[in-house]
Amino acid sequence: MLVAKTIEEIRQFACSSHREGKTIGFVPTMGALHEGHVSLFEAAAAACDLVIVSIFVNLTQFGEGEDFAQYPRNLPGDLALCREHGVCAVFTPDEEEMYPPGRLTEMTVRELDSRLCGRSRPGHFAGVATVVAKLFNIVGPDKAFFGAKDYQQTVVVRRMAADLNFPVEIIVCPTARHSDGLAVSSRNIYLSPEHRKQAPSVHGALELAAQLIRRRRPPAEEIVSIMREHLANHAPQGAIDYIQIVDPKDLTDIRTTKRAVLVALAVKFGTTRLIDNVLVGP
Ligand code: PAJ
Repeated sequence: MLVAKTIEEIRQFACSSHREGKTIGFVPTMGALHEGHVSLFEAAAAACDLVIVSIFVNLTQFGEGEDFAQYPRNLPGDLALCREHGVCAVFTPDEEEMYPPGRLTEMTVRELDSRLCGRSRPGHFAGVATVVAKLFNIVGPDKAFFGAKDYQQTVVVRRMAADLNFPVEIIVCPTARHSDGLAVSSRNIYLSPEHRKQAPSVHGALELAAQLIRRRRPPAEEIVSIMREHLANHAPQGAIDYIQIVDPKDLTDIRTTKRAVLVALAVKFGTTRLIDNVLVGP
């Protein structure tokens, strides 16, 4: 497995793979890899000849006061996991390599960037779109794999790739969960034992919403208040950032649940912010 620190090295690897007629599946990550990431590696391996993973904790997508400094980092463990799962190359640049001084360009995906998580994380999706665009330019993948857990990210990345004509197919993979339903996340390690006990209710509230919608398609407002009540009872230490029912395509609020809907929420336990969502068909 190649471990490339420089843009030059990974470009050469990707270009020579393409010249040999091989298709590249790309999985961008910020490391602290877990089974959610591994599920993306597996999907990429099944769909492409070789898999390239990037590991880069992208400062530009963290807001002031967010957890950039505390974000878990474990490169040796990450590389071992990549090796174990048949990844062909890992691109792990340092800050200077990705963002040399003097840069002035940033990618903004207007409107989509201010909905859902964008409200409490201004600038976050510009940081994501910029780094993903750079990574697409560096790696030149045929297909890129993202997790449905970060649903808004997939919508933003799809829009950016389409608007800028990146010749890459965006593939969204299901959320990997612990047996109690909690979505696997690099940030779960920060939950206190009590918070960890309450955290599965985030998924519980989504399951409840999905059941209600499938059964009788109630108005969005009613579902949100039932979810709030569920969380108040089962996760009293969780502070709700938002619970929203939106159009899965453009993330705008919707009132009825007769069509396909995305139910999304963010809940903070202490300083740890968990997000999750469920897509319910028409
Ligand atoms: P990171 O949080 O490391 O996630 C990398 C990819 O793994 C994302 O596509 C994310 O949605 C996916 N993922 C995370 N948890 C998952 C789970 N439980 N099941 C399935 N997939 C999961 O998302 C980022 O990094 C960054 O924003 C990035 C795209 C790398 C840009 O910096």
